[in-house]
Amino acid sequence: MNELQILPLLLGTPAGLTVRVMDECDSTNSRLKREADRLPADSVLIARRQTGGRGRLGRSFFSPEGTGLYMSLLLRPDFPAEDLPLVTPAAAVAVCRAVESVYGVETKIKWVNDVYARGKKICGILTEAVFAPTGALSHAVLGIGVNVSPPPGGFPEDIAPVAGAVLPAPAPETLPSLAAAILSEFYNLYSALPETDLYSAYAPRLLYVGQYINVLRGDSTRRALVLGTDTRCRLLVRYPDGEREALSGGEITVRPAEDKS
Ligand code: BTN
Repeated sequence: MNELQILPLLLGTPAGLTVRVMDECDSTNSRLKREADRLPADSVLIARRQTGGRGRLGRSFFSPEGTGLYMSLLLRPDFPAEDLPLVTPAAAVAVCRAVESVYGVETKIKWVNDVYARGKKICGILTEAVFAPTGALSHAVLGIGVNVSPPPGGFPEDIAPVAGAVLPAPAPETLPSLAAAILSEFYNLYSALPETDLYSAYAPRLLYVGQYINVLRGDSTRRALVLGTDTRCRLLVRYPDGEREALSGGEITVRPAEDKS
């Protein structure tokens, strides 16, 4: 995969968007954050493999070469920081649409940042905001990791019960099309934030509606019934005591509380 295979496939992305593809990187999110002061908005960094791929909540993201797409975008939003939580759901919808159009594989979203196909997690999204000393939003780095095919030796034991791939067999030649489709779909949504109707695209893909899940907060876990999402893609839940809540961040699981995968 190289830049020249991706650029001609982009549709409706910003004129200033640049794409850089590296062989190896610790983490494309970490690298873009380190370089942010000297890079323009909409700089995209893709690594063929990551040696220290990062997920949410301090977890690692397994990033071997040839089987996945590891991509980060430097964003300088023109909307207020309070609307930043819309970036991750927009990216999740973009990944779903891209995977469906490039591979014809149906996808679902596990709130708030995981994309599933065939019952397994095929993509994780990590949005990191950086604030100026004044407290104003400086920029955000949006990282997207997609497992396109199973790694040759299989997924590491700790993530194997949850992790899956879009395709059953290697298809490295499809990575440029996937990257371009995600970028095109993402900017289509992002350029219209915060007003755009993200809900109509996000809600139908949401997993676990009508089911009980665990809401994890620090060391505490609470069972809750998933009711759906609101227009800001917050997860609407009802606890057994009748209390309702709109979750704007955090972690849910349908697995035993101690398994936070
Ligand atoms: C998660 O599953 O919690 C989020 C995973 C995000 C992985 C992507 S891969 C590209 C970018 N670089 C990183 O180190 N992380 C993100």
